[in-house]
Amino acid sequence: MAKIIAGVTTSHVPAIAAAIDLKKQEMPYWQPIFKGYEFSKKWMAEQKPDVIILIYNDHASAFDATIFPTFAIGCADEFLPADEGWGRRPVPKLKGHSDMACHIAQKLILDEFDMTVVNRMDVDHGLTVPMNLLFGDLGPDEEWPCRVIPFPINVVQYPPPTGKRCYDMGKALRRAVESYPEDLKVIVFGTGGMSHQLQGTRAGLINKEWDTRFLDGLTKDPVGLTKIPHSEYVRETGSEGIEMVMWLAMRGALNDDVKEVYRFYHVPCSNTALGHIILENK
Ligand SMILES: [Fe+2]
Repeated sequence: MAKIIAGVTTSHVPAIAAAIDLKKQEMPYWQPIFKGYEFSKKWMAEQKPDVIILIYNDHASAFDATIFPTFAIGCADEFLPADEGWGRRPVPKLKGHSDMACHIAQKLILDEFDMTVVNRMDVDHGLTVPMNLLFGDLGPDEEWPCRVIPFPINVVQYPPPTGKRCYDMGKALRRAVESYPEDLKVIVFGTGGMSHQLQGTRAGLINKEWDTRFLDGLTKDPVGLTKIPHSEYVRETGSEGIEMVMWLAMRGALNDDVKEVYRFYHVPCSNTALGHIILENK
């Protein structure tokens, strides 16, 4: 039986991709940010997961305004890094897990979560930045050390799903994973966030107090967080802070009682607050 051993959340700021690709990691601005993931990379190397289910949002790279699936799952064997305007990122292509992804899609749909099955898709910084932060700076000729199932959630085109819907979907995701017969170690990622507004007069908005409450709640009271309406995310954390509903999808896939093994919060990263947390199933 496949088993979810832990959950990871992290911001997926695109400027981090540029910092890695342009080798700026040791610059004073970037150094503390990458240092904040040293523990995480060691932790990940010890976990040795077989599969990562990586919940993120596409930023008009694979999907454009013609189609925005609310919940999608990548069922291909392979996914290439997207060209976001500067060519494909020089990172390894992803090896998917087609068999497990198809199993999860079937179970989720029969569990009343109507997934969009995606058989061909490029993956953008929403997915590749978290991979770099947890697995290091691998080049295009190297391999990520595990399979990855991309799991995009729409948070770009109104209306995104509610935090509660994402949390409930995480619970169904866990049931789907645990009904997969092969003994595989699975880690679920929820990415995006934390407070950020990219445009308008409130651009650069940071609400550290609210972010800290959200991080505390993620570990201890995720059900409380599911009651936060969209309007509060937008008001308190900026228009792009809504990405945090994807963290609740990850949290739903874990035990009610989890061990917080690591937390990192840093301002500024680009014009956002960067948040990262690692939760282990007890
Ligand atoms: Fe994003």
